[in-house]
Amino acid sequence: MPRDDEFLYRLRSANPIETVMGSYVHLIRRGRNYVCSCPFHSEKTPSCTIFTDSQSFYCFGCGAGGDVITFTMKIENLDFMEAVKLLAQRSGLEVPERNNTDSRLAQRKTKIYEMNRLAANFFYTNLIKGKDKSGLQYFAKRKLSPATIKKYGLGYASDSWSELSTYLRSKGYSDDEIIDAWLGGRSQKTGKSYDMFRNRVMFPIVDLRGNIIGFGGRVLNDSQPKYLNTSKTPVFDKGSNLFSMNFAKNAETKQIILCEGYMDVIAVNQAGFENAVATLGTAITPDQARLISHYAEEVIIAYDSDGAGQKATQKAINHFADVGIRTKVIHMEGAKDPDEYIKKFGAERFRMLLEDSFDATDFMLDKCEIGLDLSTELGRVELLNRASKVLAGIESPLEREVYISRTSQKCEIPVQVLKTHIDDMLRRSRRSEQKREWRNIQSAATYQRDDINPEAVKYRREAKAEESIICYLLKHPEECDVIEKEVPPELFVTAFNKKVYSAMLDIMKEHEHFSVSMLSDDFTFEETGRITGIAARNREHPVTGAVFEDCANVLKNYAPKDSDNMSDDDLMDLFKSKKK
Ligand code: GTP
Ligand code: MN
Repeated sequence: MPRDDEFLYRLRSANPIETVMGSYVHLIRRGRNYVCSCPFHSEKTPSCTIFTDSQSFYCFGCGAGGDVITFTMKIENLDFMEAVKLLAQRSGLEVPERNNTDSRLAQRKTKIYEMNRLAANFFYTNLIKGKDKSGLQYFAKRKLSPATIKKYGLGYASDSWSELSTYLRSKGYSDDEIIDAWLGGRSQKTGKSYDMFRNRVMFPIVDLRGNIIGFGGRVLNDSQPKYLNTSKTPVFDKGSNLFSMNFAKNAETKQIILCEGYMDVIAVNQAGFENAVATLGTAITPDQARLISHYAEEVIIAYDSDGAGQKATQKAINHFADVGIRTKVIHMEGAKDPDEYIKKFGAERFRMLLEDSFDATDFMLDKCEIGLDLSTELGRVELLNRASKVLAGIESPLEREVYISRTSQKCEIPVQVLKTHIDDMLRRSRRSEQKREWRNIQSAATYQRDDINPEAVKYRREAKAEESIICYLLKHPEECDVIEKEVPPELFVTAFNKKVYSAMLDIMKEHEHFSVSMLSDDFTFEETGRITGIAARNREHPVTGAVFEDCANVLKNYAPKDSDNMSDDDLMDLFKSKKK
């Protein structure tokens, strides 16, 4: 990894992690360190710690962690080089001009961006100028103007198995690269590659920096699947991006309209509202809710008026409550979705609909009444049961009071009784919330379940020893040669720790200053968090030379427990060593 060690070191020094993180979240001082509510998951008690001496952060709740570059990558949704550039800008440092600073992953991503741009242009040209006019006819039928088609760069993928691949190959890309971008697939039977998107109108998905990260493609008729979306690629994750966010983020207003589909967003946008977005073919995720909360103060949910849309609305409301953003819901009558509504009633009526949108709490409370007969006691009791959950979920005490009083009137019970009941629920849920958060921390610490290093559950003792050795290496990078000689990576038993240890040794041998973000090519954000966590949990009792020796011996004396997986030779060796 030919990266400029000296520069990265200066960059990290110029951007203290507490300063950078402090500009995103509220920090509370704890001695030399800080704690904060984790920006990467929602929690009530702050369990994310910033260690100033090691310039790292670690969340004991969700296991996120790393250095200032890892943090910037995740919170800004950037890759390594982009995060470096942002931090350099922030601190007035010049990024050294070097062509070989781009890592393998960065090169792979650049290729995908290039191919996506070429593909988008290809689809667009094909839509506008191609002989086959069915794409253009389809958009005309959906009442999209040429200006809108251009603005969104919409396109048409012909009914052909190879048109796009042939074009991309002529531009110098290989079949494997085309498949890597999810623009092509490979037949398992014949091994031949083919175009992924065929006979569909195409919606390019653009990220906040203007890169085309993927596509949605819609059939022109009623066949299935109606929409085909890019699956996971190194640049595309459907759970953390939003369609049209590139336009919405520049809108005048501090409000975002959340729709269900691409066509809704485009219709709403064409009607004059820049601030519409949609998820990418899935239900909204906490990540997406958080992204919206970074750009808006209020979100208006404009999902379909059918049952599925209403269910999805309730789920979305919960996600927005978690990230603390004001949430409203539009109430659409006479049309199934915003696209149809605007076509039927026009942009002005849609604006009125937005203005008349009601509060998320009203929406939730209304849903509670469905199917109940409030003229009966039974109905009112059931409404109380259902409504209590909603009322207890309201964050603001003032707002809660208002709704409690309203509900008490509706159910004909004294307001004080309902209030006491809700207060009880709140106390209980706070306690169980804290318990749950604490249990998560505990189970992460004691490996009851281990998704990142599954073998650690089976080889508890060895995994612990490995982690101590990793800690020791982190503390003494200058001794990496001696450490490697004493414990070569081959001695490691669990695959994940072995990979971490080898990668760290490789970097330390080449570079004077090690930091975990230097591992970002080969490790995911979750894995980087785990590596930081290993260090964070061992802080109280630093690994001494003597402990290191003990741990080295644990690995040297390790004999596989599982004789089923052993060859005969291994088994003989095991017997011999046992005899000794
Ligand atoms: P049309 O107006 O018929 O184009 O669709 P819509 O925009 O009204 O979408 P609909 O309500 O049918 O679906 C909303 C969103 O869900 C779409 O924009 C897609 O992102 C997604 N979606 C719909 N059908 C499919 C499907 O078959 N597969 C996948 N992956 N996503 C789908
Ligand atoms: Mn529709």
